[in-house]
Amino acid sequence: MVNQETDTVILAIETSCDETAAAVVKNGREVLSNIISSQIDLHTLYGGVVPEIASRKHIEKINQVIEEALAEAGMGLKEMDAIAVTYGPGLVGALLVGVAEAKAIAYGTGKPLIGVHHIEGHISANYIENKELEPPFLCLVVSGGHTHLVKVSDYGVYEILGRTRDDAAGEAFDKVARAIGLGYPGGPKIEKAAQKGNHDAIVFPKAKVADCPYDFSFSGVKSAVLNYINGCHMKNIPIIEEDIAASFQKAVTGVLIDHAMMAVEEYQIDKFAIAGGVASNSALRNGMKEACEKRGVRFFHPSPILCTDNAAMIGTAAYYEYIAGRTDGWDLNAVPNLKLGER
Ligand code: KG4
Ligand code: ZN
Repeated sequence: MVNQETDTVILAIETSCDETAAAVVKNGREVLSNIISSQIDLHTLYGGVVPEIASRKHIEKINQVIEEALAEAGMGLKEMDAIAVTYGPGLVGALLVGVAEAKAIAYGTGKPLIGVHHIEGHISANYIENKELEPPFLCLVVSGGHTHLVKVSDYGVYEILGRTRDDAAGEAFDKVARAIGLGYPGGPKIEKAAQKGNHDAIVFPKAKVADCPYDFSFSGVKSAVLNYINGCHMKNIPIIEEDIAASFQKAVTGVLIDHAMMAVEEYQIDKFAIAGGVASNSALRNGMKEACEKRGVRFFHPSPILCTDNAAMIGTAAYYEYIAGRTDGWDLNAVPNLKLGER
């Protein structure tokens, strides 16, 4: 039940990459609906996301997805307190569809407009199922476009401790999956293959970045996998995909966990969350859980459906912006390279 006097209900829209999504979120942490229309099947044909196709599909789907989100919540636009939308980072054409739609709805209904940072959305996904989680906490954001180790000092207040210097963790999963013929999207396929493989079969490097111990680099491990495969072809050695997947996954999750625990020890914060598409990887979750438990740190993660792109997480992040009095004007625009913590 929604109490119009006291509850805050937000319609949220997310179109930054290849998911057209809309959600209705009450008081930041209660998801009344969460509709996701995935374009994965279309992009699979090309082995990755084709930006032009993504934008066109968002335009075709957005109205229908919003209508479904409102219908499932049993509410109409007039009952919304605000309209939220991801305005960056992401594919510019894809972002523009959501931003234009949100602006049109907010303008037409006279509701406030709230632009949300996509990564802030991923981090906020943790609030939905963990009602007791509040800042400060540390968060590892691992998605297809980003790898950030973040100190969440307060709602909307972020300090980036480390970031990737080259490929994002999810991107490395996708590229390695393509190299061993597993297809797109690579993360879930690598995870599945790895379950049948030996993670000690091949030792892939865990890259360190000399001048910033919290920064990541995944292009080295990706090249090492490609070199290994080429070496096998040259020597006529059969390639065991499951072993490559398991060994690669061990190298990547190992670096992520090492850096995360270094931050736990330095910052002495006893709550750690993970977020983003790669956060649904069970090897990463289990490794993080074990490492956190060993140090007396509480570990949080969203359900897989809230790890990958969705609009519920955008509605949650928007709620904290809204109660802090931060809304946007009609000049809100898509910002493909938007930095975290910048408004
Ligand atoms: O957060 P997300 O849906 O989109 C971005 O904001 O990038 O993340 C998508 C990424 C893809 O690279 C995908 O391969 C990866 O998350 N991913 C996974 C798993 N599920 C999705 N990586 C590893 N293991 C998984 N189970
Ligand atoms: Zn994302």
